[in-house]
Amino acid sequence: MIWEKKPILLLIMATGAILVGTIITMVLPFAWVNTEADRIETVTPYTALQQEGRDVYIRDGCNNCHSQTVRPLVAEVIRYGDYSKSGEFVYDRPFLWGSKRTGPDLARLGGKYPDEWHYKHMESPRAMVPKTNMPDYGWLSDNKLNPQKIKRKMDVLGFPYTNDEIKALEGKNEMDAIVAYMQKLGSDIPWREATATTIVGELKNPFKGDAAAITAGKTLYIDNCAACHAEDFSGDIGPELDGAGYDENDLFEIIYSGIPDGGMPPFSNMGYTKVWQMVNYLQEEK
Ligand code: HEC
Ligand code: HEC
Repeated sequence: MIWEKKPILLLIMATGAILVGTIITMVLPFAWVNTEADRIETVTPYTALQQEGRDVYIRDGCNNCHSQTVRPLVAEVIRYGDYSKSGEFVYDRPFLWGSKRTGPDLARLGGKYPDEWHYKHMESPRAMVPKTNMPDYGWLSDNKLNPQKIKRKMDVLGFPYTNDEIKALEGKNEMDAIVAYMQKLGSDIPWREATATTIVGELKNPFKGDAAAITAGKTLYIDNCAACHAEDFSGDIGPELDGAGYDENDLFEIIYSGIPDGGMPPFSNMGYTKVWQMVNYLQEEK
């Protein structure tokens, strides 16, 4: 080819080719993001308390272990919930999508657990999830918030807080702030209703009276449920359980779909078999 022998021409053509790629992949998206079409009406700025929690999250490097974006891939949506929309991040400065998942993604965390679960989990993650390597953050409760400092941050970010809202932070600590922040994550759009898991087909208990299934159910219960309902079913964050008091199909539905807005998370991602094993354990034990 003749241009291979003409360095200047080759340089110009190569630069042109690279520029086209750059414009398409980098420059054009700037025109598309953060436009009116991108805005989601229900997405609101962080409250003063949540914004403080966000800063604690950044300071303590939670994003070294947690991402905050659900990619539009089937496996992610099943595990975490609806995929993230760009309009959900308009108040994130800087955004915290992250790239490391030592722990799970937190983009759809809001409303998954009751506040009380978060306080206990932050105080001692191993009290709730026995094998986790997440560090303890109990000391956050000792750090009081400083409303004056927060006011200065508000002014920089241009968020619309009233003096009353800032005053309300008096007496709150960093733990209150980070829990409030976590409950906000991903909960501005009504995705839970949109992606509610449906139970396919008619329910039928495949393990009635099966001793092996009941034993398997016990292990599953201790790992997944005991943190909220206690090993002996006496209740803690969740109510006391009386599995035998439920129709087996109702019990399956409660565990599989959870109780949205009640603080009971769904366990559909465990699959039918494991949920049935727990149903049989719960019904046997009481
Ligand atoms: C060394 C890595 C690491 C760091 C740092 C870390 N975590 Fe975690 N986190 C984990 C792991 C692993 C899990 C999964 C097991 C568990 O629930 O503890 C987890 C789970 C969680 C969960 C439960 C998520 C769910 O859907 O069940 C929350 C909430 C959470 N972390 C918040 C935080 C916050 C807030 C911080 C910063 C203050 C933080 N983590 C720092 C590793 C980490
Ligand atoms: C994060 C804490 C949490 C975890 C983990 C949890 N639950 Fe729950 N559970 C709750 C709460 C809170 C309620 C009460 C919800 C309501 O009634 O609004 C509840 C309600 C229930 C109920 C209905 C109780 C009643 O009397 O109506 C059953 C059954 C149940 N859970 C079983 C389980 C099983 C089995 C597991 C494990 C697979 C589990 N839960 C895991 C918090 C939890």
